[in-house]
Amino acid sequence: MPSSGWRPWAPGTYVSTPGLDRVIGHRGAKARAPENTLAGLREARRLGCGWVEFDVMLSRDGVPVLIHDETVDRTTDGRGRVADLTLAELRSLDAGAGFGASFAGERIPTLAEALAACLDLGLAANVEIKPSTGHAAETGRAVARTVREAWPAGGPPLLLSSFERGAVAAARDTAPALPRGLLAEGLPADWEAAVQDLGCATLHLNHTRAATAGLRDLVARGVPVLLYTVNEPARARELLDAGASAVFTDVPDTILAALG
Ligand code: G3P
Ligand code: MG
Repeated sequence: MPSSGWRPWAPGTYVSTPGLDRVIGHRGAKARAPENTLAGLREARRLGCGWVEFDVMLSRDGVPVLIHDETVDRTTDGRGRVADLTLAELRSLDAGAGFGASFAGERIPTLAEALAACLDLGLAANVEIKPSTGHAAETGRAVARTVREAWPAGGPPLLLSSFERGAVAAARDTAPALPRGLLAEGLPADWEAAVQDLGCATLHLNHTRAATAGLRDLVARGVPVLLYTVNEPARARELLDAGASAVFTDVPDTILAALG
């Protein structure tokens, strides 16, 4: 069980996030290696990331696996809904060849495998709970249970997040000590209540919906803001200068080099 020391936000408090890096590899390093694969985690590390983000959904038989879309169509050589495919069926697919021939044979990893890889590589992780439609609570529970069992106290920081509030709530109830972030596109009108209800430490927003003035206001309220997906160095610098805690990027090498 991680004990990173991150605390839920409340009005009048300032959340500190020890161990958080400014640059987080998005879906591993999405522009450099197949997204949400072990090869992607290794590539993110090789390019200098200390943190990675990846997406987790349940197979038909309830196993948390790394994948972004509700179907396997875009990222593998198979077809169909993740929620209709067993782990064995998902594992038979090639999740690398579509990105490049050198990645042929790459498989959809389980969350347990990805966490083990992160620990081997010394990577901190933002595990995005990405339920297929109608499976928010069970996905939140399964992810939180897997992380709680796999991630050691004293390991790198680990942060759960989701757009689905039901998934965040289920994770909170299953593993209350795991730090949580609320994901949204734009800032939700009820963000203060939602963040407090869910016991979240952080807010994760789409940078295209985040004006720097609004970002400064949020940061002044004491809630750490993480912004996705930022692939332009000038924009990354602007957001970090305005007080963003981190940016998620598909091109971590480019952003890290620009930030110096
Ligand atoms: O967690 C940040 C970002 O990954 C959220 O958007 O669609 O890329 O999972 P998406
Ligand atoms: Mg994601």
